[in-house]
Amino acid sequence: MGFSIHWSWLAALLCALWMRAGVRCDCPESNLQMQGGNYTLSNNLERGSMLVYHCPEGYYPYPAITRLCQANDSWRPRPKRFPPQRCRLIECPDPNVLEYGNVSPPQEKYYVDNETTYECYSGYTMRGSATRVCLKNGKWSGSTPICSRDSGDHCANPGIPPGASRVGNMFGIDDTVRYTCNGNLFLVGSSERVCRENGQWSGNEPACYYKHTFDTPLEVSKAFGNSIKESLTTLESTDDIQGERKIRISKNGTLDIYIGVDISDSISEDYVNKSRDAVVKLITTIASFSVTPNYEITFFSSELYEIVNIIDFMEGKAKLSDVKTKLEEFDVGDRNTGTNLNLVFEQFLEKMALIKIRAGEENFKEHRHVIIVFTDGAYNMGGSPAPTVAKIKNSAYLNLADGSRDDYLDIYIFAIGDDIFDDDLMPLTAGTGGNHYFRVKDLEKLQETFDEMIDEDEVKGLCGLHKEYEDHRNEQKRKMYPWMAFISTQADGHSKKCMGSLVTPEFILTAAHCVYGFLPEKVTVEIDDGQHKIKKAKTLFYHPLYNVTAQKDKGINEFYDYDVALIQLEKYVDISTDVRPICIPCTLETNAALHLVDQSCQSQERLLLKNHLERLNFLTRTKNTIVEQKDVHAKLGDNRYECIKHAVGVEGITADTLRDAVTDNFICTGGLQPFRDHIACTGDSGGAVYKNFEHRTIQVALVSWGSQQVCRDGGVKESKSNSRDFHINLFKVVDFLKAVLGKQDMDYAPLEFLEN
Ligand SMILES: *[C@@H]1O[C@H](CO)[C@@H](O)[C@H](O)[C@H]1NC(C)=O
Ligand SMILES: *[C@@H]1O[C@H](CO)[C@@H](O)[C@H](O)[C@H]1NC(C)=O
Ligand SMILES: *[C@@H]1O[C@H](CO)[C@@H](O)[C@H](O)[C@H]1NC(C)=O
Ligand SMILES: *[C@@H]1O[C@H](CO)[C@@H](O)[C@H](O)[C@H]1NC(C)=O
Ligand SMILES: *[C@@H]1O[C@H](CO)[C@@H](O)[C@H](O)[C@H]1NC(C)=O
Ligand SMILES: *[C@@H]1O[C@H](CO)[C@@H](O)[C@H](O)[C@H]1NC(C)=O
Repeated sequence: MGFSIHWSWLAALLCALWMRAGVRCDCPESNLQMQGGNYTLSNNLERGSMLVYHCPEGYYPYPAITRLCQANDSWRPRPKRFPPQRCRLIECPDPNVLEYGNVSPPQEKYYVDNETTYECYSGYTMRGSATRVCLKNGKWSGSTPICSRDSGDHCANPGIPPGASRVGNMFGIDDTVRYTCNGNLFLVGSSERVCRENGQWSGNEPACYYKHTFDTPLEVSKAFGNSIKESLTTLESTDDIQGERKIRISKNGTLDIYIGVDISDSISEDYVNKSRDAVVKLITTIASFSVTPNYEITFFSSELYEIVNIIDFMEGKAKLSDVKTKLEEFDVGDRNTGTNLNLVFEQFLEKMALIKIRAGEENFKEHRHVIIVFTDGAYNMGGSPAPTVAKIKNSAYLNLADGSRDDYLDIYIFAIGDDIFDDDLMPLTAGTGGNHYFRVKDLEKLQETFDEMIDEDEVKGLCGLHKEYEDHRNEQKRKMYPWMAFISTQADGHSKKCMGSLVTPEFILTAAHCVYGFLPEKVTVEIDDGQHKIKKAKTLFYHPLYNVTAQKDKGINEFYDYDVALIQLEKYVDISTDVRPICIPCTLETNAALHLVDQSCQSQERLLLKNHLERLNFLTRTKNTIVEQKDVHAKLGDNRYECIKHAVGVEGITADTLRDAVTDNFICTGGLQPFRDHIACTGDSGGAVYKNFEHRTIQVALVSWGSQQVCRDGGVKESKSNSRDFHINLFKVVDFLKAVLGKQDMDYAPLEFLEN
């Protein structure tokens, strides 16, 4: 749809001009206008053109939302004089369905911003919201009010959502309640719910939607996030260690994710682009959960445009980064008019069958399937996908219809576009744990809120998980760098400041020179977990080989090899999205964060420090901000000597003793070549030198010393041509980290390190 916006008068003008040029003008222009709003045409008044009405916020177009210019030069639906096309005030479904209570004020219709209050008859207690406001998306705020009496029923009264009717008043085990929506409303959610043995109702609470009702990005991300999270985290077994939930990634179980994006021309290019971007965001977000799903991603109209084949994924031939590039580069181009929604489901069914053959019957049982389709449901070829969806269910449920395998299949529909065929789409959803059908208006916001998915409590302990923001406001810093810690030591009335990083709920990693020689009671750590901003140190652990004077006999006055220490805190910090550990080398968790199949420390190092110039970051405090990020380039391999040689002349280091002073345990950054690096300032010592990988942060080194004192108290400062920084490479001190953090029989939960 190359044409974007043509208002009715403009269209008429174009049509007149075009007619003179001998171009046909297909559909009539009369009676298309709308009171209080306007419309856009996808392709002027030509055949196949789609007209979309637009109203101001709080209003919706009535009676038509869209019109299509048909092959016989007439509009569908045809514009009529009565009722006139106009913008109507948004309505919410009738709340006067409350049992055993009163709704006030009683009105025939409820419009946007109208407020209602709910009261139960005496002897009944209320669950849900006592006050609700009709929102701009056509839904009531809060949750369904329910008045009930303790009747000893097995399941709680499930209530009646606004606009609905319920059949069934028995709430014992295996009792069923059925819902329908009144008038021209349609039902989203479960039309039938069964009281289960565990006291819960099966399925999800239904809701009644108008054609003008839609889900806000926040609602979508919450519902979708919660339920997809269940598919993702069921792969992780949890075990209880000292009351702390620790998430372990189980290697068993495989997650297969199938994504289909409708690119037929009933969907504007803008929607297509945004769905595509949402998919990119989604797979990036999922990657941060430490699971490595297999993906099948396809665009579709009357035919399929496969982006990635799930079989390639299974065989390790497809990489996530390539998929993202392919998605980003996909050119929608000329699109055909047909939409074959069934084709995309058939494709998914076929892939499931192939996977079953490859994986074998037994392993296939452990596969979970998540299908996500972005579409408006306006299919005009291939027939209804319902029978294919039934086959998909049979396949995933292993032909068991008892609900025992309901968790193994989720089908989500993201209904997009201007005219959505809800009646066809709603029944295609499947799965438990919340809504699976979303009417989305603002796909852009949806992308942003996919971020919220990773905020769930169950994954909050995952190392290195953090948020990324476009603008870097101070209050967002804790979420961007949730592992950051500030260290102070007190001696003779003056204090010394350093940086550190949270590596477990109880340990801070820093430089040995920051705390060496101090008693633990003179060391405090600032890390704001909402409990106590200042944490006391309990025990200090230094690398056993740390000795500043060890090379004095060679004339090296200060020697910083093994400049690494761990501070054990008196109290655990409260892990949250603001405060959580960074990933450190050679742990099992870091392996999962890096999606490495190979369980070896070397492969982590190869992945993180593979190039001779590796971009890294560390933090600094400044006067006005909590922290700022510095950008540096590690000079490795052939680049290393040119970098470290600038240490000659510092603290008695000579060309002869250079290699003794700057051992292989140091990573060198700084200088102007090939990029102007930032340089460390006093106060940056001990801070994490890190690298981001998807949504996770991995600490590869820590700031130790520099060849010059360029700046005294923090701040983002550029390097001079001869200033260099030396950071302790954590891969070289894993034995020490493992000896302290991985020790089994201690009073803290150990980190799991790789064998080699
Ligand atoms: C069309 O309607 C929309 C929504 O009410 C409004 O934002 C826009 O300015 C209108 N455009 C014109 C040209 O009237
Ligand atoms: C145009 O075709 C549609 C179906 O294709 C039909 O329903 C409609 O009546 C036709 N209109 C006219 C004016 O022929
Ligand atoms: C409900 O909203 C309509 C339209 O804005 C308004 O006219 C009416 O007064 C409102 N009713 C109440 C009780 O607020
Ligand atoms: C996980 O897989 C291993 C082999 O890959 C198997 O020995 C073990 O029993 C499985 N565990 C579960 C819980 O299925
Ligand atoms: C959609 O994306 C393509 C390629 O990224 C771009 O060329 C095109 O202009 C975009 N269209 C819209 C409407 O944003
Ligand atoms: C540090 O090294 C020097 C020189 O080798 C040695 O005399 C001293 O005992 C060492 N200190 C510690 C604490 O090991």
